[in-house]
Amino acid sequence: MLVLEAPAKVNLFLRILGRRRDGYHEVASLFQTIDLKDTLTLSLAKEDSLTCTDSTIGPNLATQAIDLFRSKTGLTHPLSVHLEKRIPLQAGLGGGSSDAAAALKGVNALLGSPVSIQELQLWSGEIGSDVPFFFSSGTAYCTGRGERVRDLFPYAFDQKLEIFKPPEGLSTPAVYQSLKLEECSLEDPEELLEGFLFGNPVFLNDLEKPAFRLLPVLAEHKKRLNGTMSGSGTAFYFLNSCS
Ligand code: C5P
Repeated sequence: MLVLEAPAKVNLFLRILGRRRDGYHEVASLFQTIDLKDTLTLSLAKEDSLTCTDSTIGPNLATQAIDLFRSKTGLTHPLSVHLEKRIPLQAGLGGGSSDAAAALKGVNALLGSPVSIQELQLWSGEIGSDVPFFFSSGTAYCTGRGERVRDLFPYAFDQKLEIFKPPEGLSTPAVYQSLKLEECSLEDPEELLEGFLFGNPVFLNDLEKPAFRLLPVLAEHKKRLNGTMSGSGTAFYFLNSCS
């Protein structure tokens, strides 16, 4: 039996650079894992089963990850998978992507590691643009549609980073559809990255405007919290000097 942690992430900055011919957007983003985690328990079994603490969740990306592993390797040993879900859905915190990465690592390890981690990371981009990040050390600069991952040293926060998740959620495709490129910020992402590396961080997210158009209450949350939305929302992170 294997027990794997699947951490959530925030985007310390997220720039959208343009629309691509394949329907995706070119992004440049600094990703950081946080303490909030799902837990995935996998074991070899007589027949396949998937259970989850959240009955509302439906088919999870972890299932897709196992299907992908099977189709790439031809190794189809039945598995029992249990997902303890703590990362909220439709929050921009990467929960589904992280579950998928953990499932790929887990099934590979259970079957004697026939595939290298680099290969798994490469395959994982087929499940979702954010999945390859979860093979990094936990801090990474991601480009392309998000799947090109440059590992970095963790950013040292001098204050506690807290998360607020409103009850509303947003779907990623809907937010990208609502995006107007002319509304995006003009900051050079490489300069933003340098800012984080040299102690002059600027937190920003180009998906806030389209998300706020879909859910105007999010603008109120941003103002009240003085925070930044993560990914395609709706969770915000903010620095709390009091704790
Ligand atoms: O890659 P993923 O499956 O997470 O993407 C979900 C949707 O989000 C895509 O189908 C696309 O509409 C949008 N997206 C995008 N550009 C990206 C990532 C996602 O337009 N870089």
